[in-house]
Amino acid sequence: MRKNLLNLTVATGLVALAMAPVAGAEEMDADAMIKYRTNVMKSLSGHMGALARTVEGKVGFRDLVLPHAQAIAAISHKTAEMFPEGSDFGDTDAKADIWSRRAEFDQAAATAAERADGLVAAAEGGDMAAIGTAFKEMGKACKGCHDEFREE
Ligand code: HEC
Repeated sequence: MRKNLLNLTVATGLVALAMAPVAGAEEMDADAMIKYRTNVMKSLSGHMGALARTVEGKVGFRDLVLPHAQAIAAISHKTAEMFPEGSDFGDTDAKADIWSRRAEFDQAAATAAERADGLVAAAEGGDMAAIGTAFKEMGKACKGCHDEFREE
């Protein structure tokens, strides 16, 4: 009887332990969120920097214009979600304005997502002049948000 109770206690403890990481995953890990979004932002820079060389006609790789654009678009549609409440302190260049002027920040993110969709459409069309224009518009959307919401 006693032994069964002990087993039950141990079993309950193990179940609790096994469930702990699941429960923890629902809470935001601010450091991980900041690391994630800064790396995602760096990847955006990588895609834009690569695209610039193709747009300028300095390298080929026209078949990579669409995948670069698609990656930028997929990320741009999620940017706002990468700045949840509580991820405003730590190793971050995010300005507190993101949270105090949330609607404007979300608008800047939505504008970037729209421009990114435009870049995808241009890439699908394949016209280099149109791709160049869409690329410039995309760059302005990155800068527009950074000017307002990122520390120098
Ligand atoms: C809606 C706002 C917004 C848009 C749009 C946006 N960014 Fe950012 N970006 C930020 C913020 C805020 C940070 C600072 C994040 C932090 O440090 O937590 C940042 C950081 C960065 C960084 C620095 C990452 C590091 O190493 O710390 C780069 C590079 C970057 N963005 C590139 C881009 C590019 C390229 C685009 C467009 C394709 C873009 N961003 C679009 C808001 C935006």
